[in-house]
Amino acid sequence: MSRAVSGSLRLAGRLALARGGLKLARALGFPVRERGYQVWYDTISELSELLFSDFHCMNYGYAPAPESAGPERHQLGLYDYLALQAPLRDKRVLEVGSGRGGGAAHVLHAHGARAVTGLDLSERAVEASRARFDGAGLRFVPGHAAALPFGDSSFDVLINVESSHCYPDVAAFLAEARRVLVAEGVLLLADFRHREEVGDLEAQVAQSGFKVGYQRDITPHVVAALEADDARKRNLIDSGSAIPDFLRRPIYHFAGCKGSPMYEDFRSGRRVYLAFALAAGQGRAAAS
Ligand SMILES: C[S@@+](CC[C@H](N)C(=O)[O-])C[C@H]1O[C@@H](n2cnc3c(N)ncnc32)[C@H](O)[C@@H]1O
Repeated sequence: MSRAVSGSLRLAGRLALARGGLKLARALGFPVRERGYQVWYDTISELSELLFSDFHCMNYGYAPAPESAGPERHQLGLYDYLALQAPLRDKRVLEVGSGRGGGAAHVLHAHGARAVTGLDLSERAVEASRARFDGAGLRFVPGHAAALPFGDSSFDVLINVESSHCYPDVAAFLAEARRVLVAEGVLLLADFRHREEVGDLEAQVAQSGFKVGYQRDITPHVVAALEADDARKRNLIDSGSAIPDFLRRPIYHFAGCKGSPMYEDFRSGRRVYLAFALAAGQGRAAAS
């Protein structure tokens, strides 16, 4: 049996067990949301190492994006779009939810940040990022968005791309973000919510003490990216012949492929993708 097939079977077994365990835990009333995301992103990272070589970003992307930026141009384009709201040159940047590290590396190399730290809950994703990108000016650490392992005022810019929807306590993340930023610091956040949850996110931001410098609904740009990137993503998924069938549908959905519930949610406006630039301001200690 090939390494990819045996690896996939092992993952499929683990995921099935995790699914069963999560159902039981939910039925018993345990807080399982966070553990579920950790298992999911660990699995995605492990599967990616077995099956794909060119997969360093995990967001839905932003269009238009210049062709010269390579196959993951739309995913990197989301970072470029956020960087328009706050200069990154010579800044100390923290990315919370750095995934497989492609965005953090892009911020260092294409935007001239002084140093970039990527933090992620998934240890597999951190390992993959270290294996691919660790080097001068770039480091990856495991950690939790609600308990950042950094001192006060350690960073100039905090980037958070498509990660906050996973957090059980967004207010705790915002308090931590404000604590680790300098007073002139900026939080650049891009993420989606179901339309009826947008008000909750806006209230969490308003209560955090951050000042909203910029807020946009970028859903049309994300839908355009999903459409422009559809063939590449389908090819990647379909070429993973060792992916067990029961995993294909959730992966199409996770990837936002055309026709998936995720894509339809964005297209119909049931899910909204927002971008924010938030200024930390003075009085961070009092706020947290
Ligand atoms: C959709 S991926 C986005 C990754 C990356 N920002 C990108 O655009 O490629 C979301 C990431 O958030 C991470 N994550 C989820 N919950 C987290 C938490 N509580 N603390 C830190 N990272 C978390 C996941 O492990 C995953 O790598």
